[in-house]
Amino acid sequence: MNARLSFSDREPAPQDFRTEVLRGLTRRHKRLPAKFFYDARGSALFEAICQTPEYYPTRTEVAILREHADEIARAAGPSCVLIEPGGGNLGKVRLLLEALRPEVYLPLDISRQHLLSAARSLATDYPWLRVHAVCMDYSRGFDALDLSRWPEHSRRIVFFPGSTIGNFEPAEAVAFLRQTARLAGPTGGLVIGVDLKKAPDTLHRAYNDAQGLTREFNRNLLHRINAELGADFRTERFHHYAFYHARKGRIEMHLISHGAQTVRLDGQRLSFADGEPIHTENSYKYTVEEFQSLAALAGYRAAACWTDRDLLYSVQYFEVAASPGP
Ligand code: AVI
Repeated sequence: MNARLSFSDREPAPQDFRTEVLRGLTRRHKRLPAKFFYDARGSALFEAICQTPEYYPTRTEVAILREHADEIARAAGPSCVLIEPGGGNLGKVRLLLEALRPEVYLPLDISRQHLLSAARSLATDYPWLRVHAVCMDYSRGFDALDLSRWPEHSRRIVFFPGSTIGNFEPAEAVAFLRQTARLAGPTGGLVIGVDLKKAPDTLHRAYNDAQGLTREFNRNLLHRINAELGADFRTERFHHYAFYHARKGRIEMHLISHGAQTVRLDGQRLSFADGEPIHTENSYKYTVEEFQSLAALAGYRAAACWTDRDLLYSVQYFEVAASPGP
């Protein structure tokens, strides 16, 4: 391992996947947690979705980060401890590193192999950068993260791009943001990507791409359950269904059972009625003001906001305003 690259392993036990899948599929309204999309195939499919012409968030966010990297760096200040929950391929942070020049960069991700290979190539491409990768499920909070070894005087900046905050229920988003504020501390900040409300057509296309990659990404959850938990889902008998729910301000993704069927999983038989949905994801969209109000509930003060010209997407900067409650 490169001298400037270190690694901590807080990977959750595989038992958690089994428990959460069983819990979700035995509820009256079946659900699967969206965080399980990202095994190796799911992560590759997501990266392919990000390249489609319909999925505007990634390219728009990249353009905003590229255009405003210097301003973002000025807002965040020099030599910070930069913490990125769920960095994936660690591609976005590259757009900020030269401008930001952090003291140390901590990517946190649940997928160990993906994290390690991305952290290795980042450390190779930025030889001056200290990288400490942590394999952990950040959706359970940051208690597993030990920050005592990093310079105490440095400002902590949490970087949360990709509009992943939209995949949380609003109340969960507040709870999560509150945890990031506690992690950042009283002098810290947050750089976050937030997808904006827009014409439902544009949203519909983004989650129903012509190549069918989003459909495969959605169905991949069932492939994963088959592969890792020995279930016998016939994945082609579950249809991808994604639509914008305007009142709730969110895209909903479901897998709809085509015909009545039963599936074996962990010694149980699960029944699906014809047309029964498994709810797999919500992706909330906000106005800038709505999101600023949400962040205020978590103890943040809005300090800056950058958008594209068409107001599709925003990158927002917040400072910790108040000591966040528990
Ligand atoms: C990761 N997350 C922000 C994506 C989104 O847009 O909600 C996941 C995704 N689901 C379908 N396409 C992309």
